[in-house]
Amino acid sequence: MDLYDKDAGDILPVVVIGNGPSGICLSYLLSGYTPYLSPEGTHPNPILQSKLDRNSHLSLLEQDLEYLCEGLEGRSDNPVAVLFDSLLLPDSDFGLDCASPLTWRYEPSRATPHLVLGKGPPGGAWHAMEGSMLTLSLANWMELPGLKLKDWMREKRRNVRNDRATPAEIASYYQHYVTQMGLERNFACGTVTSVQRVHLQEGGRSLWEVQGLQKRPSVVEEESGEEEEVPFSVFAENVVLATGTHDIPARLGVEGEGLPFVSHSFWELEAAISAGKLDDTSDPVLVVGAGLTAADAVLATHHLSIPVYHAFRRSVADPGLIFNQLPKVLYPEYHKVHQMMTQQQHQPNDALSSSVESSPASYNGSYSGYVSFPRHRVLSFRPDRKCVLQGEGGRQTVLQVSMVLVLIGAHPNLSFLPEEGRPMALNPGEPITCRRNPLDVDPFTHESVQQPGMYAMGPLVGENFVRFLKGGALAIASDVVRKRREKELTSKATVA
Ligand SMILES: Cc1cc2nc3c(=O)[nH]c(=O)nc-3n(C[C@H](O)[C@H](O)[C@H](O)COP(=O)(O)OP(=O)(O)OC[C@H]3O[C@@H](n4cnc5c(N)ncnc54)[C@H](O)[C@@H]3O)c2cc1C
Ligand SMILES: *[C@@H]1O[C@H](CO)[C@@H](O)[C@H](O)[C@H]1NC(C)=O
Repeated sequence: MDLYDKDAGDILPVVVIGNGPSGICLSYLLSGYTPYLSPEGTHPNPILQSKLDRNSHLSLLEQDLEYLCEGLEGRSDNPVAVLFDSLLLPDSDFGLDCASPLTWRYEPSRATPHLVLGKGPPGGAWHAMEGSMLTLSLANWMELPGLKLKDWMREKRRNVRNDRATPAEIASYYQHYVTQMGLERNFACGTVTSVQRVHLQEGGRSLWEVQGLQKRPSVVEEESGEEEEVPFSVFAENVVLATGTHDIPARLGVEGEGLPFVSHSFWELEAAISAGKLDDTSDPVLVVGAGLTAADAVLATHHLSIPVYHAFRRSVADPGLIFNQLPKVLYPEYHKVHQMMTQQQHQPNDALSSSVESSPASYNGSYSGYVSFPRHRVLSFRPDRKCVLQGEGGRQTVLQVSMVLVLIGAHPNLSFLPEEGRPMALNPGEPITCRRNPLDVDPFTHESVQQPGMYAMGPLVGENFVRFLKGGALAIASDVVRKRREKELTSKATVA
């Protein structure tokens, strides 16, 4: 969609910033796809079932979500995420494939006009993971309502041998989903550069002005195939932040972190591998961090027999470690990395002072070429490609490496908001992160506590998995529907 031609006078009820799974799922709900309790639907939880029965004539979007959420427990801290997950995939924690008690009806008359903006094609972070070695279980955890991931894969691949998909395939599923559900006309490519509150003269109404840049083929040099960036501006009653948190890599803040052999992106590892700079005879690569991206880097290097050192702050049994929260059956690769971390820990020699580590090739065990350093932090990187780690009790170890990958999480890029959105965080003094400092929103509407009319979902509110971010879409769509209903009632009352 071309935004620069758009009539600037239009006021949209909702503008969504971000076109990953979060933005796509919300667009589905806002487009008139409406969930009801199916007449023959049963839910394994009898209390939830009886609450649903009581209002079975109403869609889920019109019900009291707080009431439905009461007493439910699950793997997410967001109550609506637990509710929606348990309605879409009942008992999936036990590996059961229970049918959902919901039925979806397409009711275009209920649709709320909206626009979803994204920097690239729909699918978000999944496009950035393309090329990753990882394969994911085809379990329904990544799927969006109304299109089974398994069915789509079967159709695409004809003869599916195994039950696993690459991140590139998942990205393509999301892109296909947008087309299949007829959501495309709500999607536009564009980078948002500013969101500001503006006050209208008439009625003292307050709106959001969303400004950004959109690429289009150059008009001046038509033949050249070059692109130019054209500014656009749209007005919205409500803005939804669905930008994810993968934009700005987190840094350790230690000496030497800017040295050329120290990188903060998985893609520099890929580049080094493609350029033939790393192989089984190289000095080890040091991977710092114990999240999913760090695990990806360990798998990629280990797969090519490149020696790896792996340093991270937590202990391998720490319940906060992501591997201790993922079901082993669904994530065998991540489970394998966790096993490596556990089984091949660095054994410090008795010398109390600093020691220089021998190469991981000398470590035998099932995963040769890999050594983990749990409960270690990096003290510094030196120009001669030596890294100084500090373990428990202050013991230092010096490692000789070829390359370092610091993969310790990321921060969202909310530079388009005043003060980078920090005043909306739980702890406004700290940078926003998915796990430690998400945005502060009402748990049942996902509206910002600080900024009415501004909503957030996905990793920005602490929900890193597709399985649970769908709850944010339900919360926001319900609240938007409620606001629109109230507005209609007031305008009717005024007319009367
Ligand atoms: C290595 C790795 C493995 C993972 N494995 C899994 C898994 O197995 N299962 C799972 O459920 N999750 C997994 N995740 C997490 C997954 O990435 C998130 O759950 C999901 O992508 C979050 O969706 P989102 O739509 O909220 O944000 P994103 O997918 O991050 O999409 C946000 C989009 O917003 C756009 N955007 C940002 N700023 C702007 C702007 N200013 N203007 C316009 N657009 C903007 C960007 O283009 C981006 O594409 C993994 C993540 C990583 C890094
Ligand atoms: C954040 O996003 C803006 C707009 O897209 C961009 O200009 C800026 O370089 C980004 N900042 C960082 C640190 O990546």
